[in-house]
Amino acid sequence: MNVQTAFQTMDYGVAPEASAQAEAWLKRHDGKFGLFIGGAWQPAAAHFDSTNPATGKKLASIGDGTAADVDAAVKAARAAQPGWAKLGGHGRARFLYALARLVQKHARLFAVVETMDNGKPIRESRDIDIPLVARHFYHHAGWAQLIESEFADHEPLGVVGQVIPWNFPLLMLAWKIAPALAAGNTVVLKPAEDTSLTALLFAEICEEAGLPKGVVNIVTGAGETGKAVVDHPGIDKIAFTGSTEVGRLIRVATAGTGKKLTLELGGKSPFVVFEDADLDAAVEGAVDAIWFNQGQVCCAGSRLLVQESVAETLYAKLRARMETLRVGDPLDKNTDIGAIVSPKQRAQIDGLVKAGVAEGATLFQTKACPEGCFYPPTLLTGVESSSAVAQVEIFGPVLVAMTFRTPAEAVQLANNTRYGLAASIWSENINVALDLAPKVKAGVVWVNCTNQFDASAGFGGYRESGFGREGGREGMFEYLKRKHTGKIDKPAPVLPPTELPAAVNTIDRTAKLFIGGKQARPDSGYSRAVLSPAGAQIGLAGDGNRKDIRNAVEAAAKAEGWASTSGHARAQILYYCAENLSARADEFARRLRKMTGASSAAAAREVEASIRRLFTYAAWADKFDGAIHDPPLRGVVLAMNEPLGVIGIACPDEAPLLGLVSLMAPAVAMGNRVVMIPSERHPLAATDFYQVLETSDVPDGVVNIVTGARDTLALVLAEHGNVDAVWYFGGSAVRKIEAASAGDLKRTWCEGAVPWLDAREGEGRHFLRHATQVKNIWIPYGA
Ligand code: NAI
Repeated sequence: MNVQTAFQTMDYGVAPEASAQAEAWLKRHDGKFGLFIGGAWQPAAAHFDSTNPATGKKLASIGDGTAADVDAAVKAARAAQPGWAKLGGHGRARFLYALARLVQKHARLFAVVETMDNGKPIRESRDIDIPLVARHFYHHAGWAQLIESEFADHEPLGVVGQVIPWNFPLLMLAWKIAPALAAGNTVVLKPAEDTSLTALLFAEICEEAGLPKGVVNIVTGAGETGKAVVDHPGIDKIAFTGSTEVGRLIRVATAGTGKKLTLELGGKSPFVVFEDADLDAAVEGAVDAIWFNQGQVCCAGSRLLVQESVAETLYAKLRARMETLRVGDPLDKNTDIGAIVSPKQRAQIDGLVKAGVAEGATLFQTKACPEGCFYPPTLLTGVESSSAVAQVEIFGPVLVAMTFRTPAEAVQLANNTRYGLAASIWSENINVALDLAPKVKAGVVWVNCTNQFDASAGFGGYRESGFGREGGREGMFEYLKRKHTGKIDKPAPVLPPTELPAAVNTIDRTAKLFIGGKQARPDSGYSRAVLSPAGAQIGLAGDGNRKDIRNAVEAAAKAEGWASTSGHARAQILYYCAENLSARADEFARRLRKMTGASSAAAAREVEASIRRLFTYAAWADKFDGAIHDPPLRGVVLAMNEPLGVIGIACPDEAPLLGLVSLMAPAVAMGNRVVMIPSERHPLAATDFYQVLETSDVPDGVVNIVTGARDTLALVLAEHGNVDAVWYFGGSAVRKIEAASAGDLKRTWCEGAVPWLDAREGEGRHFLRHATQVKNIWIPYGA
């Protein structure tokens, strides 16, 4: 045999990772685990099996937590929380640091247990999952240390319930637990039923670190246990990662309960390859995008969009590369693709692939794939963008390919999904790549790279991929609440129900609606009487209905150019609004006096505060900057604050002018378009405001105002598919609004009474944070 033949025929030998220590650990527990509650191991009433998907063999019996167990865990967490918060940032930082060190100390054991339980290749659990877990605890030890200075106006939420999936069991635990603890919360975490083991091992290192009892509680179980966590009234926040379907159920279940919520859900992320890309690099990128973790990755680059001119070349290279991917024993250090987490998941993948072929896609699969719970790397080409495999999250090693001709078509295809988690863009031309980055609707964009994660960079979705971010500064805010000053404004006079404004069938001298930059008659042809506190009719306002809201949303959607105007341009318009309001200050004050019965001094103060507020957000328009992160990888991350899109805003009755301005201005300053529903009782301040808008060069459709029955109209906004967020202030329909928003998982922000005159409560960065979402763009930088 000559050297050449030797090279050609050479194959890898097996290089198994030893599992003896992991097995010894399981044996130490007699292969049976209880629940970790209040710092002690509690027996479970019933158990279910956890199996190794690669071998089908049982690994352990896992406790099936009941609602009573969840209740005990919540009580333990509640009892521990004040002490944990009181420990202060530095005290908590020391524990988080200890946890990071212990994860490192037991890194190999964690990696092997993870691989046995989940089926992922040891190369990945050892080199990616576990190091990222340690990094997460280190990074959040830092946030704990800095919490008093960096989050001065904030305090912990209390007890946090966390429900995680099976694809990155320990990493998702770290993403959830580290920021929660850093912020001073205590947690009840439910791992996924298929992969509980590393969470139980983590409970042991909490004991080893001497973490105060009850700070971390681990209750294993299936969906019912998760539901018990979500439904528990003693929980202040739910953080969930998993399927969009369950995310939607959780949104409905938590609606109106006051529980803070973050959802990290599915994706169908585009992997866009331009003709000027380094195709070999793109092929390696695709390997990371869709064959990492068997493609069971929420942000997997599962839709390959390739420029037509290079499609066949890229497919040929991909097929050749796929043949070199080794599918097999996850504990073998040479394995690229391990086992699928469960036979159920494998059946789902296979069913979708068969459906794709039936819909006309061309299938390519590599041959070498062991029997059992394994699935070969798969490429489907010639896929229609409307077909199921192009739209549904397959969550397996299946790449679905489509072609495009122009960058505009690439954007259109990339955004042709209900999801918006991530996107990967491949081009050697910086102009092409960075032109596309702001146009794709996704929480994370990777330029010439993919599936990069770091604790310093926030992660989370747009649209139905969920809301909230994990990691980075923005991730910390998800586990904190603002300390309120306790100030409240004098409530507006409340009319007895019999005196509530009634619908009047008249269109004479009625203040109209303001839609698309024009005053419009309400579709109903009805008006509502506007009364003084004494009950005298002082005017008429249009009685807007569903059709008016639809028109307003359409006008707002059309004004999308506003999102890409500069902060400077938006500032100028807000200053101009302030100037025009100032010119008519007396008139507005008179109107406020008549409507609300406010004293002339109070009315003048409200107008003056409204002018100031417009100045504040004009000032912020070009200053609410993002950040640049420097993760321990090659590249930098641009964390850009992007507008949400169209925000529906229901304004409170208190301070009818200042409330409206305080909500409109931050939204508009950040590049959103708004559909405002003014105070139902005192709408005339808003209708007078049309003239300010008309004379201030506000582009048509950026601000739309629909008067009428506030809660009914707000509900229409919450249900509307083209509205990206709903802000609902000072009303009692929170549950309805939040539940209705579950349809397309739009963001909601519901608050009670706000002391609008108080500059700390009534304005500032927290409004701007609600008006934006962070897009993290990873770009190559340096050597
Ligand atoms: P799942 O969403 O049902 O499970 C995720 C977690 O939620 C698990 O801990 C589960 O026990 C819990 N859970 C289930 N029902 C619940 C309920 N009603 N209330 C509270 N918690 C509940 O996901 P599953 O069934 O494991 O996978 C199904 C599909 O979901 C996958 O094929 C994949 O498409 C997607 N998925 C997406 C993930 C992501 O990271 N985005 C992760 C896991 C699954």
